Amino acid sequence: MANPHLFTPLRIRNLDLSNRIVIAPMCQYSAQDGCMTDWHLIHLGQLALSGAALLTIEASAVTPDGRITYADVGLYDDATEQAMARTLDGIRRWSDMPIAIQLAHAGRKASTDRPWNGGKQIAPDAENGWQTVAPSAVAFNPEYVAPTALDDQGLKRIRDAFAASAVRAGRLGIDAVQIHAAHGYLLHQFLSPLANQRTDSYGGSLENRARFPLEVFDAVRQAFPSDRAVTVRVSATDWVKGGLDIEETVAFAQMLEERGCDAIHVSSGGLHIDQKIPLSPSYQVPLARAVKAAVKMPVVAVGLITDPVQAEAIVATGDADLIALARTVLYDPRWPWHAAAELGAQVKAAPQYLRCQPSRYKDLFQS
Ligand SMILES: Cc1cc2nc3c(=O)[nH]c(=O)nc-3n(C[C@H](O)[C@H](O)[C@H](O)COP(=O)(O)O)c2cc1C
Repeated sequence: MANPHLFTPLRIRNLDLSNRIVIAPMCQYSAQDGCMTDWHLIHLGQLALSGAALLTIEASAVTPDGRITYADVGLYDDATEQAMARTLDGIRRWSDMPIAIQLAHAGRKASTDRPWNGGKQIAPDAENGWQTVAPSAVAFNPEYVAPTALDDQGLKRIRDAFAASAVRAGRLGIDAVQIHAAHGYLLHQFLSPLANQRTDSYGGSLENRARFPLEVFDAVRQAFPSDRAVTVRVSATDWVKGGLDIEETVAFAQMLEERGCDAIHVSSGGLHIDQKIPLSPSYQVPLARAVKAAVKMPVVAVGLITDPVQAEAIVATGDADLIALARTVLYDPRWPWHAAAELGAQVKAAPQYLRCQPSRYKDLFQS
């Protein structure tokens, strides 16, 4: 294939992406007191050698109570910042892949156990548990302790925490911030009428439900260096009747764009236990396409994108500008290499690995 679209460069603010493949944020539940560990150096380090255009650090909590589990990464104090600096120093020594970070608060879905321990909520008075907060005192599911509805002071605390984390991310030289407003976590809880039952100026109409997420966007945008990109990840639909839908998401995307958002990453679901997700390859791409038709900023599609020809088609048809990979790239951390080989393109590879190209195997016998 001549000049595949998947391997054309793209510039977002001052972020130069060498191709259209980004690595989605993926929680590893392997931090200690919010601090990255050697696992993160190994995990992110190998992904930084993958040939993708951008590596996104997992959901990093802006406050300790914003962590999904007690083993989540945070970026909320000097210790968490220093641990992240150590990881980044190690990666940057050997890879020049740009690095983004997802800043997050889990809201009512916080205080749970690691997925491989069952993932259940941990009660506020039990070890490793804490009282959660949310727009309204509506539990995620009947087994959860109801969250505390945030008052004005609580909203300020979290807004300021997003900004403080963005300052830390800027200081760490991180190339872009992605604000997590998807998957049923705090900012998505504000957007969805199923989780947000407030009667003040933060609940009711879409304009009101979007108010807090937009305030957080503005705070992060102001706190992060102005030449670097701030993006947002959304769940475009709750997949539940009466929940957030694609029409409201399109309107929210336009509000973000007006405020200077640099890109939007379109995912879905995670807010309600009654969700019915029609899982199939590219199942979220129509949502990305709908957002893309309404905005000028770059749009990222994600979800069950596993095949290079499939990924090329998403970008070539203009359904999205970029594709993000999660499970696909965990399973095959050299997916971008293999996609480039299949589509007739090139990716950057570490010089240490150059002799592994199949076309060079013959050299092995000569040196
Ligand atoms: C291990 C794992 C951890 C994840 N952690 C996050 C996360 O931190 N933030 C987020 O927005 N999505 C997270 N996700 C969702 C992925 O980013 C992605 O949207 C989803 O897996 C669909 O893409 P895929 O089909 O390529 O896996 C996670 C997914 C996996 C598999």
